[in-house]
Amino acid sequence: MRALTWHGKHDVRVDTVADPEIINPRDAVIKVTSTAICGSDLHLYDGVIPTMKSGDIIGHEFMGEVVETGPKSSLQKGQRVVVPFTISCGTCYFCGKQQYSACDNSNPAEVQDISEMAYGHAVAGLFGYSHMTGGYSGGQAEYVRVPYSDVGPIVVPDDLDDEQVLFLSDILPTGWMGAENADIEDDDIVAVWGCGPVGLFAIQSALAMGAGKVIAIDHYKGRLDLAKQLGAEVIDFHQTDVREALMEMTGGIGPDAVIDAVGMESHGFAIDNMVDVAKQKIGVGMDRASALKQAILAVRKGGRISMPGVYGGFTDKFPLGALMEKGLQLKTGQTHVQRYMKPLLEKIQEGKLDTTFLISHRLPLEQAPTAYKNFKKNKSEWTKVVLTP
Ligand SMILES: NC(=O)c1ccc[n+]([C@@H]2O[C@H](COP(=O)([O-])OP(=O)(O)OC[C@H]3O[C@@H](n4cnc5c(N)ncnc54)[C@H](O)[C@@H]3O)[C@@H](O)[C@H]2O)c1
Ligand SMILES: [Zn+2]
Ligand SMILES: [Zn+2]
Repeated sequence: MRALTWHGKHDVRVDTVADPEIINPRDAVIKVTSTAICGSDLHLYDGVIPTMKSGDIIGHEFMGEVVETGPKSSLQKGQRVVVPFTISCGTCYFCGKQQYSACDNSNPAEVQDISEMAYGHAVAGLFGYSHMTGGYSGGQAEYVRVPYSDVGPIVVPDDLDDEQVLFLSDILPTGWMGAENADIEDDDIVAVWGCGPVGLFAIQSALAMGAGKVIAIDHYKGRLDLAKQLGAEVIDFHQTDVREALMEMTGGIGPDAVIDAVGMESHGFAIDNMVDVAKQKIGVGMDRASALKQAILAVRKGGRISMPGVYGGFTDKFPLGALMEKGLQLKTGQTHVQRYMKPLLEKIQEGKLDTTFLISHRLPLEQAPTAYKNFKKNKSEWTKVVLTP
């Protein structure tokens, strides 16, 4: 089959590779009909996620048709499914608590050692996202093996087309959980850093959860325009001092809640960020957390921080004092996707959620390397790319 493979920093290729096969009884094989590139894939593309190997098939936002099933899969051939990016067994202690991205069983034992060493505990397996998260082949491919297919994938009705439901695989639940983790109360002022797909869905979700005002921060005009269309007020961080603007827009108090939808590759000309960029380049630093640090300093006393943005390791000059002295709350995590798929699918069916506005480009899988390049370089116009194998 044809699949997008990773070969190093800014080097992804569409190669012919072996077809996936059923390995375990609960597996299914999906013929991918649509797959998207995520901001998280850019962290792989930029070579800042450790434990990648040359030839790894990447991609974790995908859907398609069931073509093969193991004896214990509950799926049937021919069904259309969206697959969550988190691989979860459905039966362990954590899955029982609906903390699917903390699943204890989906990351093979020999691999778990790496995440145990780094994080104190093993994390769940993820599709196409390094060997620290299981080394599973991803979905930017013609076919993909889906483990635990009896608990992960959600069957979608035929009257909804791919583009209406594809984002249930990741960014829609991620934006939703990003807003939920901000514990929004009626009329709250919520500031969102980053107007990529995750930030935009977090804005939409925060407003749906009762926020009185959402302030969106980025520097790409195209993305800020989309935030405006959703009802947010916007700040261009290249032109405006973010903290000053936020103080002014909140009567000198600061936002009630802040959401970091930027993650480990924060841009900006703050001195700490420039040092982090240099350290990331020479491999002695990992997370560029400038947006998160700014959010912590900007949020009001007693406020809440939600951090859907991905971080992998360590960061310098973290404002621990502000976190403690201002009495802040911080919630984060890889999304517990399986928890949100059904309720969000229902909202799509009821016409309460539309996620198609985000798609700026549609390309065949064969052109995925061009798509990565543009999603990285031309973010203002390239908000979300959907690939078809
Ligand atoms: N928690 C999860 O399960 C989960 C799932 C999906 C994605 N993510 C993460 O969410 C983050 C966003 O994903 P995305 O797909 O929207 O990515 P993206 O790269 O498309 O968007 C990130 C946006 O942040 C903006 N930005 C950069 N520095 C900034 C700063 N200092 N202040 C304000 N904005 C800034 C960029 O201009 C860009 O528009 C990434 O870190 C991604 O890995 C997490
Ligand atoms: Zn993703
Ligand atoms: Zn589990």
